[in-house]
Amino acid sequence: MERVEYVRELRERRAAWRRAGQRVALVPTMGHLHAGHLALISEAARYAGRVVATVFVNPLQFGAGEDFAAYPRTLERDARMLREAGCDLLFAPAETEVYPRGRDGQTFVEVPGLSDDLCGSSRPGHFRGVATVVAKLFNMVQPEVAVFGEKDFQQLLVIRRMAADLDLPIEIVGAPTVREADGLAMSSRNAYLSTAERAIAPRLYQTLIAAAARLRAGASSTEIEQEGMDALSAAGFVPDYLSIRRRADLLPPAEPPRDEADRALILLAAARLGRARLIDNLACDLG
Ligand code: PAJ
Repeated sequence: MERVEYVRELRERRAAWRRAGQRVALVPTMGHLHAGHLALISEAARYAGRVVATVFVNPLQFGAGEDFAAYPRTLERDARMLREAGCDLLFAPAETEVYPRGRDGQTFVEVPGLSDDLCGSSRPGHFRGVATVVAKLFNMVQPEVAVFGEKDFQQLLVIRRMAADLDLPIEIVGAPTVREADGLAMSSRNAYLSTAERAIAPRLYQTLIAAAARLRAGASSTEIEQEGMDALSAAGFVPDYLSIRRRADLLPPAEPPRDEADRALILLAAARLGRARLIDNLACDLG
């Protein structure tokens, strides 16, 4: 695996692969990799002959008072894991390479509507930061395919919408959430959990499973969302939201369902546990 820091070097590698007729699949990350990220690398390898991973803790997507400074940075370990996973090239730029005019001195990409709700309402500007950096990484790497985790489901939809709206010739692939044995979705932010908090953390997923069962049994969204929030508080979380939405567009479903989009649902939750803000989701289809 090659490792580059500068866009110029990255473009040279990319150009050589293009001349050789090789397709490229991109996996963008912020590092501190775990098995969830590595599953994206394996998925990427199914779509293209060359896999590029990026490790960049993007300041633009962190709000004031969020964990940008504390975010775990473990580049040497990440590089080893990527090499073993069969990644061909790691692009790990410095902040000045990505934002030469500073964090505020440049063009932004905004995906309205989808970005304002759920995680977007508690993290204003977050998805603008994500869409902007992902658009830049797309232009730097020029992949044919890019792979994102369904764990960050709203992010996946924001990027799909951006790619469609900007006519980007890139196939956006979603990959299933990889979990710990007890159901907790793997996340770099799980590193923030104390031993006691780590024991509580799987309750987030369990709450979603219970909520999905209630949904299939015919309970109303309002009722389930309230019960879910109460269950999370009782478990020791400070819940942000637990919400039932349409998978296609994250809008609230009509009750009773009017069409297929109102039946293909997803339950999404975000909750604070100590220093960590955890998110998770679960698909749920109504019969
Ligand atoms: P990061 O949180 O490092 O995640 C990188 C990719 O890994 C994302 O597509 C995310 O959805 C996926 N991922 C994380 N945990 C996962 C799990 N348990 N199972 C499957 N996939 C998982 O998401 C970001 O970074 C950033 O916002 C980024 C897209 C890189 C832009 O800065």
